[in-house]
Amino acid sequence: MANIFKELSGRRSIFKNEAVLKPDYLPEQLIGRESQIREIAYMLKDAEYGKTPAPILLIGKPGTGKTTTIKYILKQLTEVSTKPVCIYINCWENYTKFGILSKIVIDLGSMSPRRGLASDELLATIAEVIRKNENVLIVVLDEIDRLIANSEESILYDLARAKESMNLKATVIGITNMENFASKLDSRIASSLIHNTIKFEPYNILQLKDILKERAKLALWSGAYNEDIIGLCAAIASKAGGDARFAIHLLWASAKKAEEENSSKITIEHVYKIRDRSMKYAKVPLARKIEYLDEIDKTILGIIVEAQEEGISSGKIYEKLNASDSEQRTIRNRLERLEKEGLIYSIDSTTAAGGKTRIWKVKLHSEEEEKEEKN
Ligand SMILES: Nc1ncnc2c1ncn2[C@@H]1O[C@H](COP(=O)(O)OP(=O)(O)OP(=O)(O)O)[C@@H](O)[C@H]1O
Ligand SMILES: [Mg+2]
Repeated sequence: MANIFKELSGRRSIFKNEAVLKPDYLPEQLIGRESQIREIAYMLKDAEYGKTPAPILLIGKPGTGKTTTIKYILKQLTEVSTKPVCIYINCWENYTKFGILSKIVIDLGSMSPRRGLASDELLATIAEVIRKNENVLIVVLDEIDRLIANSEESILYDLARAKESMNLKATVIGITNMENFASKLDSRIASSLIHNTIKFEPYNILQLKDILKERAKLALWSGAYNEDIIGLCAAIASKAGGDARFAIHLLWASAKKAEEENSSKITIEHVYKIRDRSMKYAKVPLARKIEYLDEIDKTILGIIVEAQEEGISSGKIYEKLNASDSEQRTIRNRLERLEKEGLIYSIDSTTAAGGKTRIWKVKLHSEEEEKEEKN
């Protein structure tokens, strides 16, 4: 056999810059989001002069550009003024009040807060730093619904209160997939969020094509793909719900497949192979979130994923985990929290013996599918 490394290094490369197709790449151009960008910028523009903007809520299905859009806008805002201090927090990483306030304190360059500090002390530290330079604090709470799932939403009231009690100029930009998020909050905060809600609709096929074209130009050698490949990836992602993340993933994975097969071009067949393999990913929103869960959550989810289609009853889950009576209670709490976090859902059912039970399933992107099932 010839030297395998020589053979591998002789392969034609498909990628010019693979990083452009990775999830954390921030595009320079946003396609089809002009109206949202304008509206949000208009709401935030007074921060440039040290005024406190009203809180804002961004709502939309996965992959509709919410996170990217807000990062894009805040980058531009901080380019024109030093007044706004913007802090981005993903509530899947930081989902407790203490965790969020600590992250703000650390990002503001203050000392790392010791455990056991009360939230008012952390808020006071934040207020002091912000007041000193007459700044305005803008806190993005991405995936904000996770706060409610963990009963940690009081941070929203605390920040609002600190505006008056500590003269802290601060506002929150919340981001969520949950249509009815605001209705779960105290009426005063809810009403200001409802008034300042910006919707992100799923992308249509033309927008997905444009998004992919821009990425492909930067990421791939021009001979490695053509319009048909872009069109096919856009069509599949459009059918799967208009999710740009999925569209980009398809293109990246197809390119990887081509590379692996030592092909100099991505072919339609490569895309189809990836599609068949990734449809599950397109529909299950937990793929990105699972890394933040602890081992027990992961095990529970694994059991439910395995049972997909039919679902699995609470009793069967306890059985598989060999859970004692007291352990069953904590598992039940975990199931309920995972449901609130939007990863799973339950339907009531009757057992063969006539008793009541709940059947757990993994939550899919398409709410229509789920509604159909519940009926
Ligand atoms: N308008 C756009 N132009 C270019 N790229 C985009 C656009 N919208 C989204 N993308 C790309 O699609 C991917 C997903 O976007 P983003 O993370 O902003 O979605 P999201 O709405 O925050 O989704 P989720 O609700 O799942 O967090 C990212 O890689 C992003 O760069
Ligand atoms: Mg996001």
